[in-house]
Amino acid sequence: MNVHIIDHPLVQHKLSIMRNKETSTADFRKLLQEISMLMGYEITRDFPLEYEEIETPLQKMNAPKLSGKKVVIAPILRAGLGMVDGLLSLIPSARVGHIGLYRDEETCLPVFYYYKMPQNKERLVILTDPMLATGGSACDAIMRLKKDGFNNIKLMCLVASPQGVKAVNEKYPDVDIYIASLDEGLNERNYILPGLGDAGDRIFGTK
Ligand code: PRP
Ligand code: URA
Repeated sequence: MNVHIIDHPLVQHKLSIMRNKETSTADFRKLLQEISMLMGYEITRDFPLEYEEIETPLQKMNAPKLSGKKVVIAPILRAGLGMVDGLLSLIPSARVGHIGLYRDEETCLPVFYYYKMPQNKERLVILTDPMLATGGSACDAIMRLKKDGFNNIKLMCLVASPQGVKAVNEKYPDVDIYIASLDEGLNERNYILPGLGDAGDRIFGTK
């Protein structure tokens, strides 16, 4: 299974504060941004390097620099937006796409409403969404990206259920999944337990 759990103590500490129902919208948003930056450090670990001759004040050297095409950060709206700024602080030149999906409250199935991605399909896509519950939204987003020609995709979530991880992994074994926590499961409304509630509402203060 291509699942990477980022168990860094700072990530785990910040996630615990986010889970607390007393945490304010402002703190929730800030913590999500900070965790996204810390997770981004791991996600970018396998980025290729190339060597370029430069001159330090003392001598010439072959210095490592990032090579390859620029990255695309693709948040699943709305909640995925909360992970964009943290990643951009690490990769300022990244492009940003948008995939609009919401989960129907009755059926829990994803409803599609927006798609905008850069033209160059060779780029690595970091697909962001804090919550991987049934996996329906992530699978739908990956399906659309692949149909559009993107074949190098990493999925970055904060909290995942075993069902969500399994769903993505079975359908898209080539997509690496990065999470901060693999939680216990889902409740009868397909919310992650213990989870952190509705991520979109907590980020944007809409409840
Ligand atoms: C949430 C979350 C994911 C999806 C996860 O979005 O941000 O996109 O649900 O559930 P799934 O794995 O079962 O598909 P929501 O539909 O609440 O939309 P929002 O981000 O606009 O609030
Ligand atoms: N969407 C959320 O925001 N939270 C969950 O636990 C499940 C879906």
